[in-house]
Amino acid sequence: MNVGDRHFRTIWLNEDGRSVDIIDQRWLPHELRVETLKSANDAATAIRDMWVRGAPLIGVTAAYGVALQMRTDPSDVALDAVWDTLHATRPTAINLKWALDEMRALLRPLPEAERAAAAYRRASELADEDVELNRGIGRNGLALIRAIAARKKPGETVNILTHCNAGWLATVDYGTATAPIYLALEEGIFVHVYVDETRPRNQGAQLTAWEMAGHGVPHTLIVDNAGGHLMQRGAIDMVIVGTDRTTANGDVCNKIGTYLKALAAYDNHVPFYVALPSPTIDWTIADGLRDVPIEERDGDEVSLVWGRAPDGTLCQVRISPDATGAANPAFDVTPARLVTGLITERGVAEASAAGLKALFPEKAKAS
Ligand code: MRU
Repeated sequence: MNVGDRHFRTIWLNEDGRSVDIIDQRWLPHELRVETLKSANDAATAIRDMWVRGAPLIGVTAAYGVALQMRTDPSDVALDAVWDTLHATRPTAINLKWALDEMRALLRPLPEAERAAAAYRRASELADEDVELNRGIGRNGLALIRAIAARKKPGETVNILTHCNAGWLATVDYGTATAPIYLALEEGIFVHVYVDETRPRNQGAQLTAWEMAGHGVPHTLIVDNAGGHLMQRGAIDMVIVGTDRTTANGDVCNKIGTYLKALAAYDNHVPFYVALPSPTIDWTIADGLRDVPIEERDGDEVSLVWGRAPDGTLCQVRISPDATGAANPAFDVTPARLVTGLITERGVAEASAAGLKALFPEKAKAS
């Protein structure tokens, strides 16, 4: 997407054909910083410490991490070791394992001398494919927004609530939950987005709001607890969120707090949609509550908040007593029964084993 008049993806191969640049998301919305990843360890750090984040982008960064490793050591031992190192960075987004498996399956049968070039090629393909998947999600989600707009009086706005950041910053470009919103805006539909701040790391306030502002999407930042109230008042027409892992029966794991939005949506008859590319479906598990590993992050993310001081410096402030500990589960699981539909690149599926099987018969068969 454009920042000012320059087009950015979130990750790209440098002109040297070796190192990889990323937008370092820790500094947004205050500063747009670009970092260069020169080794697999750099890629692991970028994922673990959330310089990059969002399930699809984590996967593509890991793929480039494998390529960086193959350049220095293309042996089987190094391939397995880099798979392990990158896989250990974050536990919940299934796109990480999916991308690492793709890379290893491609590289293992190749002679060592050919592995680095093949790895760079495939990582770049995965990046391009992510963009195409998101375009598909955009088209399919747009039809849902259009249908809501058609039921409104001319000139009335479609109000969409989103949680966390499932925008272009969470992917290579376009985003998942945001792709239909950008297309709706282009088509002239009046859309307005309520952006959950998404404590504790504030991906909504810092990233989604920055994206919306940058692309001229009318939007309003709200605290995480406001969504239910707004739904009771009829202020939300639909919810669209992303996901880090959706199970074969349609249970949706996403950023902590998503489940509460789904409950409120269900109680208020507000459609609750989840936008996802197929690599985010974990065909090997059915029960999301039991089987999705939930990342536990440092309690300091809850107790300390980053912001920009009036003098322009970035600073962190403590908002709780020094002696108070904090728990920080980063994701939760929304059961399939609360999900109105899964917006994929192939169409909108019912959130159920049958619904997913109908759209992805080849994947469902293989699992
Ligand atoms: O902890 P994060 O910022 O990596 O979590 C990101 C999310 O939960 C997104 O909603 C999800 O990855 C979908 S991204 C298209």
